[in-house]
Amino acid sequence: MPQQDSTVELLTGKDSVGKKSKIPARLDLLQSATGLILSFFIIFHIVFESSILFGKAAMYRLTKIFEGEPFIEGGEPLIISALAFGIFVIFIFHALLAMRKFPSSYKEYQRYRTQSKMLKHSDTNLWFIQITTGFVMMFLGSIHLYTMMTQPENIGPYASSDRIYSDIAWPMYLILLISVVLHTGVGVYRLIIKWGWFDGSNPRANRIRSKKIIQAVVVVYLVLGLLSLGTYMKIGYDHQEEYGNRYSEVHK
Ligand code: HEM
Repeated sequence: MPQQDSTVELLTGKDSVGKKSKIPARLDLLQSATGLILSFFIIFHIVFESSILFGKAAMYRLTKIFEGEPFIEGGEPLIISALAFGIFVIFIFHALLAMRKFPSSYKEYQRYRTQSKMLKHSDTNLWFIQITTGFVMMFLGSIHLYTMMTQPENIGPYASSDRIYSDIAWPMYLILLISVVLHTGVGVYRLIIKWGWFDGSNPRANRIRSKKIIQAVVVVYLVLGLLSLGTYMKIGYDHQEEYGNRYSEVHK
């Protein structure tokens, strides 16, 4: 039965005639592809979301564009739900593929910690950062995506700020921000190394350069995210007496 065959291949790494299975390589490719899609999404997400730094009107306009207002009068928040659902499916799929690489027992985890301390190997430490931030994101990312799917109409300069400040979502966003930026940075670096994207004629020098560029981008994204979060908090703080009132371009 083909389905049984593929389960055996998945567990043993060998196919029914004992040849090395292609499934692990295919799963690896899928993991890289879904990771790349999510990385692009996050790179743009944090920039769009920082529109609040240009003022409430800028963030409001952008939200309306995402709701399709140029084509639908007043915008349609369901477009955001659909987008969030699509991202959620890729997010879950990516997490399921990654779970293959989680240490499967506490003993295995301890063995890994001892080895990584002995080796002081920076790539092993990167792997550890990715596993831990990925674990955190599985919970916090799911909460955030669920909120975006079910309350797409509650996105905007006041609605988002009320959620962040008065509904006390900021601790979750703070942890999610740090996790997602580190996870994306490490993930993209490991993709570059794994697939040798920018190796050129001097792989060693180019890998070191890639690492430095990614470290700089991670810092820029962390600062940008923190500044945006701080701005939403300030707006939420000033707006707490009018909690629940929505921003409109007429009555600012
Ligand atoms: C289509 C899906 C998504 C939509 C529509 C969306 C939308 C938003 C919005 C509107 C905010 C501002 C705060 C708020 O209104 O609550 C926000 C913040 C944030 N989102 Fe998303 N998001 C999506 C997916 C994701 C994913 C997959 C992640 C990472 C796993 C993520 C990570 C974050 C982080 C870290 C913040 C806070 C950023 C900061 O502190 O500056 N988002 N998101």
